[in-house]
This record gives sequence, C-alpha cells and structure tokens, in this order.
Amino acid sequence: MKVLTVGGGGREHAIVRALVDGGAEVYAAMSNRNPGIARICKEFRLIKEIDFETITEFAVDAGVEIAVIGPEAPLDVGLVDALSRQGIGCVGPSKAAARIETSKRFMRTLMKKYDIPGNVYFETFNDFEDAKRFIVNCDKYLAVKPIGLTGGKGVKIEGEHLKDKNEVLSYIKEIFEKRIGGIGVVLEERLEGEEFTLQSFVDGKTVVPMPLVQDHKRAYEGDVGPNTGGMGSYSTEDHLLPFMTAEDFDKAMEIMRKTVSAMRDEGCPYVGFLYGQFMLTVDGPKVIEFNARLGDPEAMNVLPLLKSNFVDICAAIVDRNLSQSKVAFENKATVCKYVVPDGYGTKPKSGLKISVDEEAVKREGAQLFYASVNEDNGIITTTTSRAIAVVGIDGTVEKAEAQCERGLKHVTGEAIYVRHDIGKKELIQKRIEHMKKLRSQT
Ligand code: AMP
Ligand code: GLY
Repeated sequence: MKVLTVGGGGREHAIVRALVDGGAEVYAAMSNRNPGIARICKEFRLIKEIDFETITEFAVDAGVEIAVIGPEAPLDVGLVDALSRQGIGCVGPSKAAARIETSKRFMRTLMKKYDIPGNVYFETFNDFEDAKRFIVNCDKYLAVKPIGLTGGKGVKIEGEHLKDKNEVLSYIKEIFEKRIGGIGVVLEERLEGEEFTLQSFVDGKTVVPMPLVQDHKRAYEGDVGPNTGGMGSYSTEDHLLPFMTAEDFDKAMEIMRKTVSAMRDEGCPYVGFLYGQFMLTVDGPKVIEFNARLGDPEAMNVLPLLKSNFVDICAAIVDRNLSQSKVAFENKATVCKYVVPDGYGTKPKSGLKISVDEEAVKREGAQLFYASVNEDNGIITTTTSRAIAVVGIDGTVEKAEAQCERGLKHVTGEAIYVRHDIGKKELIQKRIEHMKKLRSQT
C-alpha cells in the first residue's frame, strides 16, 4: 500500500518505521530532512507541514491510497479535508473534529454538554475585562490556557509558573494583548495528581487503546525547569502505570469512548489517533487536554510494541472497521529519552553536530529515532528542538531503562542534554508516593 505521511519529528520516524515494517511504500512530506525517514521512505519532499495544497499535490502525484498525519498543525488548516476531497482516506481528523485539540473551548464545552466524566471547573473569556472581574472573586488555584494552539508552551499554572492572582492577571493581559493562541483564554481549576497519557486508535466509532505512557514535560532532572514538548517517557509491561489501577484505566477509557460518541453526535466524527492527557486525581482521572494525534515522545513507546501490522490498523481506521481484535501489543516495558540541544526549553542552540552510531545502538537492543535534526553529507546537526530519541524495550522498566542508557552512549556531541532520571526507580517511586500521599489525605 502507498501511504503519505506528514511530519519530520521523532513521532513521525516511529510512524514511518511501523508503516514500512508493515509493508507500506511511504511518501513523506516533512519540513526538515529527517535522516531516519529519508532513508526508509520511497520518496520524500521538503514541504511546510501547513502547506496543505502542496502536500495534497504530492499525495495525488504519488498515487497514495491513505495518509497518516503526524502533527496537529496540518489538521488545523484542513489537510484531511483537502486529501479527502481527492479520495484519499486519512488517519487523522477533519478540521472540525481536530477542534478537540485546536480549541480548548470546544473541548471543555463538549465535555460539559454531554456530561462526560473527567471534566474540570472552567470558564472561557473573549474579553480581558470579563476575565478580570472573574479573577477578583475567584478563590480557586487556576490553570491559564490560551484557547488556540501554542506548541505546548502557552499553559501556565498558578502556584508554579504564576505566583499569585496578580501574576495570573498579568499573564491573561499578555495573552489578549499579544493574541497568544489566537482568540481568548480558558481558566480552569488547577488539578493535583499524576499525569498520564492514554492514546487510542479511533475510526469514528470504535476506540481501541494503546499501552499507557507517562511523559516528562519539565526540562530538567527532578521535574524542574520550563515546560517542554516532552523530554522522555516510559511504559510498563502490563500496559498500566505503577501509580494506577485497572479501574483508573477503565475510567479513562470511558471518558475517551464518551468523547468519541459525543463527537459523532455533534456531526464531526473523530477519526485518527486520539491522545488523552489526564491527571489522575483522588477523584479519578480528569482530562487536561485532548490531542488529535499521537504523542511525541509517546508514539515511540507504543508503536515499537505493536504485534499487529500497523498498516492494517491504519487501513481499518480509514475503512471504519476497526476492532479490538485487530490490535495487539507486546507485554514489554519501554523507556524513551530524548537528546536535546543545551538550552532546550529556554534558549536552545541550533546547528550543533551530533554523531550517531546506529549499529551500536541496535546491538544494545535499543531503537533510535531521529527528530528535529537535519542531515547534510552525512553530518547530522540540531535544530532548536528535540534531536534524537533512544528507546529501550525489555521485560521490565528497570531493564528497558538500562538498555536505553546503553544505547544513549552511542549518541555523542557537544552541548547536548538528556534527562537521565526518566524511567529510573527513584523518580517512579516518587510518583507512587505522591499518589499514595494524595489518596491518604482524603
Ligand atoms: P497542556 O498544554 O494543556 O497539555 O498543558 C501543559 C501542562 O500544564 C500539562 O502537561 C500539565 O502539567 C499542566 N496543566 C494543564 N492543565 C492543568 C490543570 N488544569 N491543572 C494542573 N496542571 C495543568
Ligand atoms: N508529549 C506531549 C505531546 O505530544 O503533546
């Protein structure tokens, strides 16, 4: 099968590898020359990911049957709608359905309208003065979110990034003045608990889960520093997380299923990968956000575990005949750590040279995915974003973590940084204790 992919990051390298392993011929549209994708695809073109007209032309020229969309930006400009008009089936939602990610107001209002569990107290504002009046009388700690897309960097939390209500107000003012994320602001109650990611395959109706993953958004070891796109992530051999029960997982799945059903009732059925970012609180899982795509890094935890053919799963999504029996994952643990340029999260350095001994990484049993790097004459250089991910896959998190670290030794360069604490016993234990403490307080 000929398949178009869009995107040139680590998530997309994992997608392309899974498609090629499944026997697909891949045509890749990406904005940087990701060496991993370039090497295994049939053809690639350097195209801006939001240039949906040129991407559609490429897809038609190549005669692809289906398309798998990596990032959210092309969804927001209507790439899926454009490809569908050409008869190309998409693993990715229409522009209207992608609002589950692209409009935080749409997402919260949908959950409220359909009385979906896991929603939080929230208010949305189009006007600074209205927001100000609300703040004056508000005694809850807040999370402040621009309504539209901000590349994961727009959310600020009172008590963490914002000291008090005065700082909350200044940030809201800045959002309106600079039009950060477009068109307004959502204020929600601040949640306390442990975050987890639940990704699913969705064909408009059926929702099939992937193993749970925990990402690490903070830039530095010990969960401090600025928020990033994600520094690394782990999953366990039983597909749950060490601080979660099967009942917590079932509740999160119920939220996902009800959301997909509500989207259908709204006349914008959801098709593609659905990513739920949850906070496990003492009152069960609460939705922090939905994304209309796989996670990055989380895609690199789950796709290498697939026992089923990924191309068949994508075809079933496009044909609207997905079922649980078509999807099976290995019972193994994974640990993924990103190599990033120094300063990532604040002032990243670009153009740094990185040396990679891919064969040596493979010999360790680990997998390597290229992200936002460029390759020119065999020389790999960083951009300002995450560079290379190494994933350890083994029977337990401890073994997967050790394998990941052995793999990372073969990725070298000046001024690069890795959060080595990800997947280590101490950090996981800290999360277990955190949940225990919260639960004992009720
Ligand atoms: P988002 O871009 O919505 O994923 O938010 C980025 C990060 O902000 C999340 O990963 C959480 O760590 C944090 N966050 C978002 N919403 C809330 C909330 N309501 N309460 C506490 N933390 C939140
Ligand atoms: N790892 C977070 C995300 O993909 O949104």
